[in-house]
Order: sequence, then structure tokens, then C-alpha cells
Amino acid sequence: QATQTSQVVQVNGGGQSLTANNMMPVTKRNPKDYIFGKVIGEGSYSTVYLAKDIHTNREHAIKVCEKQQIIREKKREQVRREKDALNILSNSGSSLFVKLYCTFQDAERLYFVMSYAKNGDLLPYINKVGSFDSACTRFYSGEILRALEHLHDLNIMHRDLKPENILLDHNMHIKVADFGCSKILEQPADAVDNTILDENNPRPRSNSFVGTAQYVSPELLTEKTISPSSDLWALGCIIYQMIAGLPPFRSRSEYMLFKKILNLDYVYPDGFNADAKDLVQKLLVLDPNERLGTKDDQRYTSIRSHPFYKGLDFDTLHVTTPPPIY
Ligand code: ADE
Repeated sequence: QATQTSQVVQVNGGGQSLTANNMMPVTKRNPKDYIFGKVIGEGSYSTVYLAKDIHTNREHAIKVCEKQQIIREKKREQVRREKDALNILSNSGSSLFVKLYCTFQDAERLYFVMSYAKNGDLLPYINKVGSFDSACTRFYSGEILRALEHLHDLNIMHRDLKPENILLDHNMHIKVADFGCSKILEQPADAVDNTILDENNPRPRSNSFVGTAQYVSPELLTEKTISPSSDLWALGCIIYQMIAGLPPFRSRSEYMLFKKILNLDYVYPDGFNADAKDLVQKLLVLDPNERLGTKDDQRYTSIRSHPFYKGLDFDTLHVTTPPPIY
């Protein structure tokens, strides 16, 4: 992770230097540079620890992956996706995503040193209060929308957006995490050299089902197509969940759940905010090209200007004190 062009500003007792631009260590780190604490997250092939950098005293979340397990469970691609997406996002300077400070490995494990989001994920907050009020729903869905604008601008799709992957920092602002299912989209068609491709010899596709069943978009179930619009579907599910307390599509069996998604079979509870209902209806649209926002360029201006967000200043959300959740 050494950055030759960055100015070195700080030399610490342990002989570790940090670069000026993003506090990345210049020399490769190893597990002894951190004091590992409690487990703060567990994934299918990784464990996330709270850890303290012994040189800076800063707290980090360190994702530790067992190499053997990754190979056994064929998760190499997932680990690579996560690293690539986090690197791009970390270099982009946005505060809306967990930042990847550095990576290293030893004989058995891979380590991802990330920013620590002190207040955990969004799901327990939704479950605790049962229903966010309008101010909270507007604020948090507004920050998620800004994160999607940034992500899609960089041609990255998250593909597993859900409340568990929306972390909250010490100031209760969001940090989107878990890019293991993400996809860095190819360049636009006219920028891609397709000369060796024809109908009988298509570009190989490896679009296997990714994501979490309850938030998966209908096009991912039927056509296996990849488009940023699938994240807008998930946004619609999350806005619904913030207000109703549960995601819109629920079923004990995955088969029934997928059937409900494909039939747009869900209901709004009594008292559901009318503007929010209109917004969710415009996001939970079966045709991915017809979802609100898909015809916008750069920013999701048509979502920003929806009546539900009337009066919300999206550009200053990150410096606004979040509304209390209760
Ligand atoms: N759980 C998983 N990743 C995390 C992070 N970066 N901060 C806090 N909790 C986490």
C-alpha cells in the first residue's frame, strides 16, 4: 500500500510512517501493529474485530479471512471484489463508506484494516423503535441515496444493500459497508472493444445470484441482468422497512418470497406516510428502466426532488446533526 508520491508527515515510535493524504502506512503492516479486541461482525468467510493501532492509538475494524476457508468455499472472487471496490471508494475521499486503510496477510489469513463505525448497523435501530418518524426516514434514506449517487458515478453497484450493511459512525452518520457482492461495471458499450465478440461467441457472464433474498430485485431473479437500478430497488425496500418496521417482501420459503417479488405482492400498513408511499411505489417498479432515477444523469435528481424530500438539503446532510432515533 506504499504511496510513493505522498508526502510523509509523521514518523512514529514504532518506525511506522503515515502518508499525508490518507494516513495510510507507508511500510507494510502486520498483525503485531494492532491490539485485537472483541468480535464486532461475522460473515460467511470472515470475522471482523475491533482493533487498536499501537502506533496511532486509533480504533479500526479489521476483517480477518482464513485463506483455507476462502479457497474451500470458493470465495476468492468475493474477497477480490470487496478489496477492489473499497480501494476505489477509499481513494475517492467520500465519508459515506467504510474506508480501507491497508491490507496485509500472514501465512493463514488476510487482513482488511477499515474504519470503525462505532454505532453498529441500522437494523437494530429500526427493530427497536419499530418505525422511524418522517425526519429519520428522510435523513437516513437521504444519506443512502447520496451514497448510491457516489457509487453509481464510479460505476460500482453494491448489490447487497440492506440495513445490516448500513453502519453508523460516532456521529450517527452512515457508512455503507460490505462490498463482497459488489460489481465494478464495465465501461459503456461504445468504449469497450467488442471486435472479437459476436452473437455466437458472447462475452462470458458470471452473474450468479448475489445479495440477500428479501432485497433482491426482480430482474436479478429473472434475467440475471446487472444494472445500478437494482440498488434503487433495494433502496425502495429499505425506505419501506424504515417506516413499516419490516421489509416489504417476506416469506418463510425463498420460493414464495421470490414469487412475491416477481408479482410485486406487498401491502402498505395503515398510516404509512403518503409521500413515502408514492416514492416507494416509484422505486419498487418491476421494469428496472422505469424506476425513479434511472433516467437521471450523475445525481438522482428526480428522487431528490420527490415531494417526500421537500425541504431536505442533500448537499449538506453530512454536516447536519442527524435527527434522533426514537
Ligand atoms: N462490522 C463490520 N464492519 C464494521 C465496521 N467497519 N465498523 C463497525 N462494525 C463493523
